[in-house]
Amino acid sequence: MSKTASLACIILAAGQGTRMRSTKAKVLHEVAGFPMIAHVRHACEALVPYKIVGVIGPDAPEVGEAIAPHASVIQAQRKGTAHAVLAAKDELRGFKGRVLIVYGDTPLLRPETLSALVGQSAPVSVLTFKPEDPAQYGRVFLSNEGLVDSIVEYADANEQQRANNLCNAGVMAFDSDVLWNVLAEIKPHNAKGEFYLTDAIAIARAQGLACAYITGDAEEVLGINSRVELSVAEGIMQKRLRHSLMEQGVTLKNPDTVQLCADTRIAADVTIHPYVVFGPSVVVDEGVELFSFSHLEGVRVKKGARIGPYARLRPGTIIGEGAHIGNFVEVKKSNIESAAKINHLSYVGDTRVGARTNIGAGTITCNYDGFHKHHTDIGADVFVGSDTALVAPVKIGDRANIAAGSTITENVPEDSLAIARNKQINKDGWAKRFRDKKGGK
Ligand code: UD1
Ligand code: CA
Repeated sequence: MSKTASLACIILAAGQGTRMRSTKAKVLHEVAGFPMIAHVRHACEALVPYKIVGVIGPDAPEVGEAIAPHASVIQAQRKGTAHAVLAAKDELRGFKGRVLIVYGDTPLLRPETLSALVGQSAPVSVLTFKPEDPAQYGRVFLSNEGLVDSIVEYADANEQQRANNLCNAGVMAFDSDVLWNVLAEIKPHNAKGEFYLTDAIAIARAQGLACAYITGDAEEVLGINSRVELSVAEGIMQKRLRHSLMEQGVTLKNPDTVQLCADTRIAADVTIHPYVVFGPSVVVDEGVELFSFSHLEGVRVKKGARIGPYARLRPGTIIGEGAHIGNFVEVKKSNIESAAKINHLSYVGDTRVGARTNIGAGTITCNYDGFHKHHTDIGADVFVGSDTALVAPVKIGDRANIAAGSTITENVPEDSLAIARNKQINKDGWAKRFRDKKGGK
């Protein structure tokens, strides 16, 4: 896709987010497995702008990492949203066109809404919304011509002004020349000496410039300032993600109990039972069935496989076509090839399990010696008896059998049987003699 040469985006993310009560920067708190700011970044990226610039605080370089590969600039002192936009000016030197300003704490914004705002013909445009409870959002006032006249911050608004529920979503688009001119006029606003971007409107109006607005969906522009609002955003995002999966042909038996990640990819005709949790980087192919209480992260599940209930699939795992992973089975960084079965109570880590191999209940790969991880290689058509410990590094040849209860420390050749346990001794009549001695029945 070619870049839109006439559009630049600025993402404001230097705020402290004190209302989160966290040592972590507000915009790094996650929604559907990704930092809020990553959602905002993706929405901006969808517009394919000439440039995206993040404005970050001096003490949160991780925010810059979340904006990368795009540029970020540091706002050394947090002196308000207008001051933050000015911090990006150098990065946009020489740029002429539209500048879209978004706040890093509005993770539910959709690209279509941003496009609609940028597409307004007025030199300034504001995204508004009408929430049921306008809470502490800035209030937007219209002129007789139906254009935006001013924005009054909640703290500065009188009772009558607060009764207006047309609110500022925190997204604005400016012609670049207008933006830099107007910003130069903004005066410190409050006792803290903060410069408010919202004051740009009244200044632009005073210069005779038209300020247009569009009204977005109240859910979409939710600004996250507290953990309660974070949970509301999570709920909305989850609903969206589930909805789009169902539209694509995925069955969710009880949608409200399934937790998805923004990047979860699930093919058609997959069935997901209640209470399945997806971490980042999960890809599930057609016809897979995921049973309840399973947790998947960083895994590819191929066609027709069955997972769970109560399975845990950890990063670096591939589950092959038609494979079965059953209850209380943990698989980490392993390749489970097609039609292999690990049905009960096992830990398989750093391992290849060959095609059609059956791993018995209670099998453990001992992959860690306290210092390093080691690999276990199990061939195709192997039968591993229950309660086997495979001490890595170790290799089991194709079609081998491992006797139940074995502790395997040496490689096993193909087609052979390995037994690594003490030979059983039966003592005739011992139990009866013991009972008699103890006076029992
Ligand atoms: C802001 C708006 C308000 C709007 C609301 C929508 C202003 C003055 N107010 O209020 O009208 O209804 O968003 O959610 O713009 N930031 C910086 N540097 C700063 C201050 C803030 O980068 O010095 C960033 C924050 O990281 C945040 C964004 O700007 O991403 C908004 O700041 P925040 O303090 O959350 O503003 P609100 O009080 O929510
Ligand atoms: Ca906010």
